[in-house]
Amino acid sequence: MIKELIEKAREAQEKSYSPYSNFRVGAAVLIDGKIYSGCNIEIASYSPTICAERTAIFKGISEGGKKIEKIAIVGDNLDTYPCGVCRQVIREFASEDVEIIIANSIDDYKIYSMEEILPHSFGPKDLGKGE
Ligand code: THU
Repeated sequence: MIKELIEKAREAQEKSYSPYSNFRVGAAVLIDGKIYSGCNIEIASYSPTICAERTAIFKGISEGGKKIEKIAIVGDNLDTYPCGVCRQVIREFASEDVEIIIANSIDDYKIYSMEEILPHSFGPKDLGKGE
């Protein structure tokens, strides 16, 4: 499953629309057993730009998905980590044992937990929602 996610993230990276940064990112997320993928999309006025992780996650949530089981991320740099905003979005929909996979290739990747990637987070539980 991890290798499949990395392959899907790599395919999505090829679709990256990033004419300003020329930094291509792809992500693939497993939500309730289904894979959704996405790329970063940049906009000339910059602030509407969306990261690959959020493209993929929002596709899944908008299709009725609830919980992220795994997310794989590939970028143009070795070890491309999610930005702070995307870490918070992952946190919102994370299953308890979510795996965040930072991938360079199908056999070169690292796996992180939510607590490792966003320690001491503020989340739904702070507002009396979820677990
Ligand atoms: N980017 C992502 O898509 N995900 C990340 O985790 C880091 C940054 C994108 C946003 C922007 O299009 C480009 O990479 C440069 O910041």
